[in-house]
Amino acid sequence: MAIKKEKEETGEEEIKKGKESKEPVLTDLPGIGPAVSAKLEAAGIYDLMSLAVMTPVSLGDAAGVSAAVARKAIQASREMLQLGFVDGAEYAKKRENIHNITTGSKAFDDLLGGRGLESRAITEAFGAFGSGKTQVGLTLAVNVQLPLEKGGANGKCVFIDTEGTFRPVRVKQIAEQIGANPEKVLKNIMVARAFNSDHQMLLLDKVSEMIREGEPIKLMVIDSLTAHFRAEFAGRGQLADRQQKLNRYLHDLMKLAETHNIAVYVTNQVMANPAQMFGDPTTAIGGHIVGHASTYRVYLRRGKKGSRVAKLIDSPNLPDNETIYYITEAGVVDEA
Ligand code: GTP
Ligand code: MG
Repeated sequence: MAIKKEKEETGEEEIKKGKESKEPVLTDLPGIGPAVSAKLEAAGIYDLMSLAVMTPVSLGDAAGVSAAVARKAIQASREMLQLGFVDGAEYAKKRENIHNITTGSKAFDDLLGGRGLESRAITEAFGAFGSGKTQVGLTLAVNVQLPLEKGGANGKCVFIDTEGTFRPVRVKQIAEQIGANPEKVLKNIMVARAFNSDHQMLLLDKVSEMIREGEPIKLMVIDSLTAHFRAEFAGRGQLADRQQKLNRYLHDLMKLAETHNIAVYVTNQVMANPAQMFGDPTTAIGGHIVGHASTYRVYLRRGKKGSRVAKLIDSPNLPDNETIYYITEAGVVDEA
């Protein structure tokens, strides 16, 4: 069922804020009252995950509590987050609350396992200029707002724009084509322009903060993941530093996706690979670091007669495969 055919109002119901009630907070921990929790927040520690990875000494310093209290709190947070091993059945249960976001094309959704983008995962799209990376991101930013039965997650989107490619007009156009209220759709997309890689990294904390305040964010788009890193660490001798920083960023991204059950879509450029003599001589920026951190990697390119090709690469649970889709006024669709 193509989404563009649905003409009824989809963005009508306001996406409400609401604290994620099940999620434990800092003050649920032994020895952490409101005063200590405030101190921790001042030190940038907002959630259990940030606390769980601390040492008793660093927590003691940050919160002004004894090492014994700190140790107990860390232990408790680790237990609450179940940071140890879990059996396979338990693991499967944890994955039950995964949600999906349709790309707008059934064929593209199928490529990603049947239901489009997946929460708790990073999906990376790489490809040449004009291959459709941004268009896919904009379409997802609209579709995440659809109700569950229409392939959405009834949530908001955070769009981190590093290149100034976010186009409100285009978003409104896509929204209109699927029968949603364009103004409302636009209001549910929080856009931030990242001016350099440090700023890009800092914005993740902002996202955590918004979620803590109850914003129902279900999708994060980072367009582009690598451009700043690539520009800032251009020299050959800087490659190791770049990769290390990029690695840390991806790690933080994954943590955010896991902790808050968010789907993450990142775009990545390609560079010419002169060593490759056959096929498409392009390689994704960031190489193995980005490849290993992404749960799904999709290579996008232009196809024949105005079509687009998406090719899944190195997926942990899906066969490598490719499919044809189109980009039209309605965003990503099955048929032009
Ligand atoms: P870079 O960011 O430059 O690396 O490229 P990208 O991969 O992000 O490309 P992008 O998603 O911006 O794709 C741009 C292409 O999408 C254009 O060349 C058009 O072919 C197509 N496109 C964008 N808007 C429309 C539209 O309204 N209608 C149609 N039919 N195609 C569109
Ligand atoms: Mg782009």
